[in-house]
Amino acid sequence: MPTIAFANSKGGSGKTTSALLLACALAETKPTTIIDADPRHPISTWADMPGKPPALTILKNASERTILDEIEEAAARDPFVVIDLEGTASRLMSYAISQADLVIIPLKEQQQDAVAALDVIQEIHRDMKATRRKIPYVTLFTQSKAAVKSRTARHISSQFRDNPAIDCFTCEIHERDAFAAVFSIGGTVATMDPAKVNGLSKALANIEDFKNEVIHKLRAIRKVETGEAVA
Ligand SMILES: Nc1ncnc2c1ncn2[C@@H]1O[C@H](COP(=O)(O)OP(=O)(O)O)[C@@H](O)[C@H]1O
Ligand SMILES: [Mg+2]
Repeated sequence: MPTIAFANSKGGSGKTTSALLLACALAETKPTTIIDADPRHPISTWADMPGKPPALTILKNASERTILDEIEEAAARDPFVVIDLEGTASRLMSYAISQADLVIIPLKEQQQDAVAALDVIQEIHRDMKATRRKIPYVTLFTQSKAAVKSRTARHISSQFRDNPAIDCFTCEIHERDAFAAVFSIGGTVATMDPAKVNGLSKALANIEDFKNEVIHKLRAIRKVETGEAVA
């Protein structure tokens, strides 16, 4: 059921990569649909290569007119729905956000990505007003260096992490060969040959941390919605 949308109007912020990593990790245990709502359809191109997990369904979005029906259909069928959105603010993005149980806003530790992430947050607040519904959102730093961060990276990161109004994932998606390689060789990080890709075990641990934090957040959101105490 939960629908998780990846949104940031800045291209290259890591939406498609993070969405695919999460969807493949979720599909290891539960049927998952990823709605490919980027007009360039990078996820569908990836799925044309061998190695797609059997429990992962790819639904290629046709247009903004069909997105609501596509989300409804996928959410009725599968325990998890992940939406990869295009790199521009659009009506399609608003429609997807309006249906999401969680909006993940990926950003690099760079000024342009940070500005675009703040724009998305404002858009989510407008969508909340329009739909009179709370739409949980959380920012996710992507393509970050696993080792030492630059001054700029530290500055941007602290602007978000030190802001009590903005929820941030504790984990970051690091910049890793394996995460870019899935798009050129197909399949998932879990099925890659360790002899051919650097740092595979760290990449897998990074995905596991991300998936666990997403599941923890979804549980906390559901508990708040149903009035249960959050563990
Ligand atoms: N964590 C990462 N590690 C390595 N390369 C990455 C990572 N995230 C994204 N990239 C690369 O950066 C580029 C843009 O990422 P992408 O996920 O397509 O962003 P978006 O969907 O926001 O436009 C792609 O070439 C992708 O392979
Ligand atoms: Mg993309």
